Amino acid sequence: MTAKEKIDRLRADLHRHNYNYYVLNAPEISDKEFDDMMRELQNLEQAYPEYADENSPTMRVGSDLNKDFVQVAHKYPMLSLGNTYSESEVTDFYNRVKESLNEDFEICCELKYDGTSISLTYENGRLLRAVTRGDGEKGDDVTDNVKTIRSIPLVLHHGNYPQSFEIRGEILMPWESFEALNRERELREEPLFANPRNAASGTLKSQNSAVVAARKLDAYLYYLLGEDLPCDGHYENLQTAKTWGFKISDHMKKAQTLQDIFDYINYWDTERKNLPVATDGIVLKVNSLKQQRNLGYTAKSPRWAIAYKFQAERALTRLNKVSYQVGRTGAITPVANLDPVQLSGTVVRRASLHNADIIEGLDLHIGDMVYVEKGGEIIPKITGVAKEMRDGNLGEKVVFITHCPECGSKLIRYEGEAAHYCPNETACPPQIKGKIEHFISRKAMNIDGLGPETVDLFYQQGLIKDVSDLYLLKVEDIERLERMGRKSAENIVKSIEQSKSVPYERVLFALGIRFVGETVAKRLSRFATDITELYQAETDALTEVDDIGEKIAQSVVSYFRNPQNKALVERLRHIGLQMKQNAEELAGKTDKLAGQNVVISGVFTHHSRDEYKALIEKHGGKNTGSISGKTSFILAGESMGPAKLEKARKLGIRIVNEDEFLQMIE
Ligand code: IVH
Repeated sequence: MTAKEKIDRLRADLHRHNYNYYVLNAPEISDKEFDDMMRELQNLEQAYPEYADENSPTMRVGSDLNKDFVQVAHKYPMLSLGNTYSESEVTDFYNRVKESLNEDFEICCELKYDGTSISLTYENGRLLRAVTRGDGEKGDDVTDNVKTIRSIPLVLHHGNYPQSFEIRGEILMPWESFEALNRERELREEPLFANPRNAASGTLKSQNSAVVAARKLDAYLYYLLGEDLPCDGHYENLQTAKTWGFKISDHMKKAQTLQDIFDYINYWDTERKNLPVATDGIVLKVNSLKQQRNLGYTAKSPRWAIAYKFQAERALTRLNKVSYQVGRTGAITPVANLDPVQLSGTVVRRASLHNADIIEGLDLHIGDMVYVEKGGEIIPKITGVAKEMRDGNLGEKVVFITHCPECGSKLIRYEGEAAHYCPNETACPPQIKGKIEHFISRKAMNIDGLGPETVDLFYQQGLIKDVSDLYLLKVEDIERLERMGRKSAENIVKSIEQSKSVPYERVLFALGIRFVGETVAKRLSRFATDITELYQAETDALTEVDDIGEKIAQSVVSYFRNPQNKALVERLRHIGLQMKQNAEELAGKTDKLAGQNVVISGVFTHHSRDEYKALIEKHGGKNTGSISGKTSFILAGESMGPAKLEKARKLGIRIVNEDEFLQMIE
């Protein structure tokens, strides 16, 4: 067998096994065998770059090259559906269709999957492009990300598919992946996704397709479009598309009567809770495409389809009290304290009330019976008050607090923001503790051995009043506290000491300036290579920096204008924290190529050979003369010698062109 034949065989086998596993749920080989085949294909593709294929199964692993999405116009606009929550409107829809058509018709009943919609274009049986809904007229080209979703075929099975067609559907994050992802994010102290829909759409827009590959998305397809489709029936077209390799729901059903439709609705209203993915309703579609054309469209949606949304699960319970939490940034969150009530399998005692406007809108009184909903969200929310259940003695009206429950400061509300804040950044206990917790977290100063409880303890004991006090802690101070031994005390002090070498950009992040996340901190560290430059920075200059808008700029300016903050930064500087970029960073040195042996071969256009040699060294790699088993990759320009090419192939060494190399070290 030639290498080309071997590659083709592996690709076909892997496409088939992938389909068996991800679409049919019926694998024929073990995971290990699958991985081994994939690795073999990867090696062959590296050795024979001339046989590269955009739709190879190896494309499913994603890459971590950054990309900005390109916008693409939809060939057919992506419309939305008319929505209803009422059964009588379903009857109205049915009767309208009946009257307009004045002939027999069937309705296809489907589940309404709650994810993010996608339009896939196939040409000659191969996935060409995947585009998000966007504004309905044009969307983002997310093809590389979509290729990592294993249930989406890259190459179709043999069949009578049109030369060119589109198929649309919903990209979903199954409950199981969603819960696992949030557990991981909790550990890493990253913000949680509120529901699988947000997680799916957030993931799909990721700039890094390797992240998408790791997140385990799934997809159901529910709409075939094109000039020459195989059948007149929507249902029949999808069943045919199933034989081409698409994942089509097994729960579609054709209804002949209104009663059939209600049976379907009633069955799935409860049964959907046993599905592995989120659904929020059902979709009814006139089945015949000819009849669909006759019915046509309104400006926004088809007249031949409607979505019936399930009532979110809700419970009725008594409001006992509203309490207020103060976060690290001083943001105040009102929380409803409720009589415990069962909701979607858990007992709910507290629910979010979001902000003052929501409370005002609900006209909430203590003792009211309130509706609590979960609707796919983790944190339940209050959605209404059963006013008809109020008796003569109405409880006290809930009025948003005016002063901080922790420190008594008068609350403020920033223009255009819904939340109230406690402005007492430097002396409000939860803000101080929150700031310290943020400061020591992994992505900031990465101080081990300290958690929220220890921080709380140190604070209670008067050992720390702000982050600079951490650096004054002595083993003896810590050791005498409850539950602390000599060993853990020593570790904490050591870890605090080590944090003095954490780079400047992370120190900037660790300060906990409002709206300054990791990315913004990185940008700021390049804008002001020494922190003292930020003392005088003006809003206008800051907004010139990428990713920094008016709001962030103002926050940075006001942080450094506050004398207490400036004094803290100065204390930290004297303690020895990194408050400027070091010479290596300034020179652009990185360790992106650490441990790699790179051979340079051929003729280049962007840089000279010597420049490439310098670049390799600047990024921690080594430039070596001849190709051997130890070579990590070859940086190849034009006309690399055939003998070298052959040797590289034999050894399975990756060949990287100029552009790829420059992206690697970007
Ligand atoms: S059909 C023109 N079928 O619901 C009709 N949509 O507002 C195109 N959805 O944006 C949509 N499950 O993201 C259709 N079985 C299903 C669906 C479905 C979920 C989503 C889709 C669309 C929205 C409708």
